[in-house]
Amino acid sequence: MNEFYQKDIISIRDYSREQLEKIFASTDKILQQDPADRREICKGKTLGYLFYEPSTRTRLSFESAVASVGGNSLGISDITSSSHQKGESLADTVRIMSIYSDILVLRHALDGSSRFAAEISDKPVINAGSGTEEHPTQAIQDLFTIKKEKKKIDGLKIGIVGDLKYGRTVYSLLYGLGNYDVDVRLISPESLRIRSDSVYEIKKKLDFTESTNIEEDLDELDVLYVTRIQKERFPDEEEYLKVKGSYVVGQDLLKKMKDDSIILHPLPRIDEISPDVDKTKNAKYFEQAEYGKYTRAALLGLILNENGF
Ligand code: NCD
Repeated sequence: MNEFYQKDIISIRDYSREQLEKIFASTDKILQQDPADRREICKGKTLGYLFYEPSTRTRLSFESAVASVGGNSLGISDITSSSHQKGESLADTVRIMSIYSDILVLRHALDGSSRFAAEISDKPVINAGSGTEEHPTQAIQDLFTIKKEKKKIDGLKIGIVGDLKYGRTVYSLLYGLGNYDVDVRLISPESLRIRSDSVYEIKKKLDFTESTNIEEDLDELDVLYVTRIQKERFPDEEEYLKVKGSYVVGQDLLKKMKDDSIILHPLPRIDEISPDVDKTKNAKYFEQAEYGKYTRAALLGLILNENGF
């Protein structure tokens, strides 16, 4: 039996390097496959999604991914139009959703929401963002992008800049990178440093340095992972205004970087990467969004087929 069969994806910490490499190999297989063969992988399967927070790429890439492997999707993306509005609990909504679908994708503002849903659901649950905690499929897509664009992950110098306090993609990425031999530099305003309660866990597998200055050793980086300041997570708008626009990656900074360095971003971007960077060969965030469709298709294929594909 394939080890991913019927398994939830709650935290990237549950995955070993070998397992991540298997997911990447399955993604490569999907990329090379004839579209007609691809449509056999999850033929007739239904993906159900529940998005209690806004999403563009994550939801659409899951919908597009399941369609590409022959399945279909249904769900709720505007929670105000659902029975949540009438007071239905998350538990009941998850229970109902798991009756109508073969696999569930959940995004929710609470840490622990996906683990809770997985306990209730009879069907596998994929965490598509749980509060500020994690976003594991984004990290799988980020690692796959690095591997495709840099041809390796080991040995790279990776800078992660922006909102390291509230950005859940950052935590999943750091846990995922812990399986590789990388040099990590964290760059953020003082008030948005990585949460101290996570440092111990991250440091078990990964070494990193911290700085507030993006220009420091910028010329050494192979990858710069830029993140959005998570305005909606700030308890106080005043605090947000103090750090808004802290870092803007533009042509001036890009000139100081290695010629073959790559810029990534989970998106949505607000003002942290100027649009004139988009057309440069270093900008890989749109490719990263595209890889998200294929990594998710591979995950669905692995979770929904007892013998893999
Ligand atoms: C991220 C998220 O929702 O955490 N978006 C995404 O899924 N690509 C990042 C963000 O909102 O800044």
